[in-house]
Amino acid sequence: MKLDSLIPAPLRKPPKPGQGSGPTGPAPADLKTSPPERPSDAERATGRAKETPHDVLAWVDQRTGAAGFLTGLLYRKVPKGTNWFYTLGSATLFAFITQAVTGVFLAMFYTPSTSDAYASIAHINNDVFLGSFVHGMHKWGSSVMVILVFLHMGRVFFFGAYKYPRELNWVIGVVLLILTLAMAFTGYLLPFDQRSFWASTVAFNITGTGPVIGPYLADFLRAGPEIGATTLSRFYSIHMLLIPGAIIALIGAHLYLVVKLGTTAPPWLRAAKPKTAAPASQLDAGAEGNGAAAGR
Ligand code: HEM
Repeated sequence: MKLDSLIPAPLRKPPKPGQGSGPTGPAPADLKTSPPERPSDAERATGRAKETPHDVLAWVDQRTGAAGFLTGLLYRKVPKGTNWFYTLGSATLFAFITQAVTGVFLAMFYTPSTSDAYASIAHINNDVFLGSFVHGMHKWGSSVMVILVFLHMGRVFFFGAYKYPRELNWVIGVVLLILTLAMAFTGYLLPFDQRSFWASTVAFNITGTGPVIGPYLADFLRAGPEIGATTLSRFYSIHMLLIPGAIIALIGAHLYLVVKLGTTAPPWLRAAKPKTAAPASQLDAGAEGNGAAAGR
């Protein structure tokens, strides 16, 4: 069976220019000598059932035009020479999604109050089905995400992928990096055990020594001169509402730019000079479109 026939029509790879989408197989048999058999009721029902997902997708596509965006995303060209280092961005995205999913389950049992937070975490770890597994994934996953985001940033830096026209994506990335670190910081206080209390105290004190805005920022984060009930609920709302919302919006913008500008070719391939100089008009056209096509 051809793989293409399994993909619903709106999401199929668009034909290349010059290639028709019509039938390519052998001509149909002579209809006079072998008339087509009429399908049975069961065959018709199966055919209709197979078409249903296609119909639903076509219905959604007619109303949203999403197929064009999705085919652009799924079938975008990538330059020659891409390697495992190019998967670090997607790995960071996967780590973020894992954090979001495990975080939702933890939020179902966690109580953000100074008297009950520690007990609710102990309850998750000791009594809830798979609680300690999900808690462990979230706790270790935060370090994994921080490591991956730095590695991804390193790849972008050493491959020179921050240069024109991707400066804005680099800036968005820097904000994503800061927000990722802020997630790790605000999450650390939530178990409200000795370690998280004193580690956060150290972090507040360091913040307070910052120039000009340092003391105000520390006061704002601590919600007063001492760590207390308001600090915990403030950290909880920042950790599970404010920052994830901002990260989701920025990842959307980040990926939009990745798809629009294309992926940067590895520097050792970009260094190879073209044999003949390209006309200026072609160079301009390359700057607008997919960087992959222009070999950038
Ligand atoms: C939550 C954090 C982040 C996520 C989920 C994310 C995701 C991605 C993905 C999936 C790609 C495309 C695949 C790839 O090139 O690896 C990408 C590309 C890119 N990212 Fe990130 N990223 C994040 C953080 C950052 C940071 C911290 C920076 C830099 C400060 C950055 C700068 C870039 C740039 C410039 C590109 C384009 C690379 C190219 O054209 O070759 N990203 N990102």
